[in-house]
Formats: sequence, structure tokens, C-alpha cells
Amino acid sequence: MENVSQAEFWQQRYKTGSIQWDMGQVSPPLKAYIDQLPESVKQQAILVPGAGNAYEVGYLHEQGFTNVTLVDFAPAPITDFAKRYPDFPSKHLVCADFFKLSAEQYQFDWILEQTFFCAINPSRRDEYVQQMAALLKPRGKLVGLLFKVDFGRQEPPFGGTKEEYQQRFEKHFDIETMETSYNSHPARQGSELFIKLQVK
Ligand SMILES: C[S@@+](CC[C@H](N)C(=O)[O-])C[C@H]1O[C@@H](n2cnc3c(N)ncnc32)[C@H](O)[C@@H]1O
Repeated sequence: MENVSQAEFWQQRYKTGSIQWDMGQVSPPLKAYIDQLPESVKQQAILVPGAGNAYEVGYLHEQGFTNVTLVDFAPAPITDFAKRYPDFPSKHLVCADFFKLSAEQYQFDWILEQTFFCAINPSRRDEYVQQMAALLKPRGKLVGLLFKVDFGRQEPPFGGTKEEYQQRFEKHFDIETMETSYNSHPARQGSELFIKLQVK
């Protein structure tokens, strides 16, 4: 299980095409969320960590969001993304370990969670919550999806329960929304919680 904390584990998955999590499209609930945002937020600083092939980043870019940062520690999907979006600012393509991002260097208005939480070692979940809170500006938001099923696996995706997530997140966040997503991708229907959390 420790190897999920190593970039090489994920890089190999991309190189061998063993990327079963990849939906090949922007996550429908996140697309719906993005689509209802007002024009006035399009300059806000947004982070998509563990972005992989980064369909959400591509969609935000296409919709005119100008300050979106992609972070992943596997270089392969970032290289691919740069080819697909040659006009995307390269300084916002960050190949780095999310847990090592400096909160002095990076501060965001909101962060999008999409199949990243379930990819990290469950023993690091509190560290994840703390790092998310540290990277957000005051009253910044963490928005996205979490699996609400405990898969009982020793490899990703690592699921969990709403009760566990409430306990972990409420130390650093006000929970605005944590409800079963009604518009998940068909393959994930009924298995995801849509979350909207505001840093305390
Ligand atoms: C299950 S994949 C999901 C990718 C993408 N969000 C999606 O839904 O298609 C998890 C991603 O998180 C990245 N990742 C895992 N741990 C990371 C870390 N500590 N720092 C940065 N990226 C990480 C992996 O390289 C991988 O691209």
C-alpha cells in the first residue's frame, strides 16, 4: 500500500495504460458545478490536485477560467495534457507531490477533488485534510466527489464512509454539502458523495 505514495507507481500505470479510474471526460457533477458558477469567479485561483489526465482542468480552461493550476507527481499525464492544450500556461502545470506544496507559495480560492482522495494511502487522510486547508485562502472551498463505499481493498481506490469524512473534515472545514451525488457518471451512480466544504 505504501507504493501509492510514490510517483513511480502512478507513472507506471499511465505508461502501461492501466488507468481504470480514467473516465475520459470531465466528471459530470463537476461539470454541472462549474457550469453554474458566475463569470465573476473566472479569475479565481483554482487547484486540481492529483489531476491525472485532467479533464476538469481542460474544461475549466475551455470555459475561460484563467488561473487554474494542475498538480500531479506523475509526469506522463502532464506531458499529455500539455500536448492537448498547448495554450495552457506551462507555469500552471506543476509536477510535484501534493503533500510537499508550500502554502507560502500556493494559495487557492477553491480546490477541486476528483478521484484523488481515494488514491492516497488512507493513513494520510488527516494529512490530506490539513494540507487542503493550508492551501486554501481564508473561507476558500474544497469541492468535489468522494466515494461513499468502503471497498475494503489494499490498493486504490480506497473508499470510506460519510461518517468518517465528516469527522475528519470538520476539524478544518465547515461542511456545506456532503450528499449522495445525483448526477454521477453512470459507472459511479450512487457511490459518490458530492462535497462542498469551506475552510474554517
Ligand atoms: C486515481 S488517479 C485520478 C486522476 C484524475 N483525478 C482522474 O480522476 O482521472 C490519482 C492521481 O493522483 C496522483 N497522485 C497520487 N498521489 C499524489 C501526490 N501525493 N501528489 C500528487 N499527485 C498524486 C496520481 O499520479 C494520479 O494521477
